[in-house]
Amino acid sequence: MLLHIPAVLAPDQVASMRARLDAADWIDGRATVGAQGAQVKRNEQLPDHAPLRRALGDEVLAALASNPLFHAATLPARILPPRFNRYRDGGEYGFHVDGAVMALAADAAQSAAQLRSDVSCTLFLAEPDEYEGGELLISDTYGEHEVKLPAGDLVVYPSSSLHRVAPVTRGARVACFFWVQSLVRDAEQRRLLLELDASIQSLTAGGAPREPLLRLTNAYHNLLRRWAEP
Ligand code: NI
Repeated sequence: MLLHIPAVLAPDQVASMRARLDAADWIDGRATVGAQGAQVKRNEQLPDHAPLRRALGDEVLAALASNPLFHAATLPARILPPRFNRYRDGGEYGFHVDGAVMALAADAAQSAAQLRSDVSCTLFLAEPDEYEGGELLISDTYGEHEVKLPAGDLVVYPSSSLHRVAPVTRGARVACFFWVQSLVRDAEQRRLLLELDASIQSLTAGGAPREPLLRLTNAYHNLLRRWAEP
């Protein structure tokens, strides 16, 4: 399931992040992938150890913490510290797979903690009219989806999908990206829980009778209890 989560960041937050990102020192994005990824990856990234990456990453995590739709959709157990990338001058990232298991800490050598990537997330930090190209193209069992969102909006999709970023032929595409290990590993189970959660929310808002709503909520939690892994 591909889900668009609007306005994760407010316009003033985006502007503040962009001012700092536009003045930052970027490195070649190929430094952070294996040999197969390096063949198709042409972009720039903030170094993992850069204090700015940590500061902006923490701001993104704080925004996610107060976003109910992000939680309902991803059911996060762990979130990889957010990273930032920039595509310009024809930069692109050809079709690739995201690694299934990643080191959780930026200083990987010092930590054995790992994350299983269940959900891939891209938070757009440039407005669509700032750049030409740069669409995120996600290929799944329903075909290929093209994603290019307003600054501050987030797309989440199963990490099992092949995906690519189209060449940026004008301007710069700036984004934040990260992965989530979900309490619920299976994407279809997560989709069912999100459907159920959305129905409960809208029935509650519509003033539905308490007793059936309580039973529905109980069913939601019993499914989550059945499917959740630590
Ligand atoms: Ni990727």
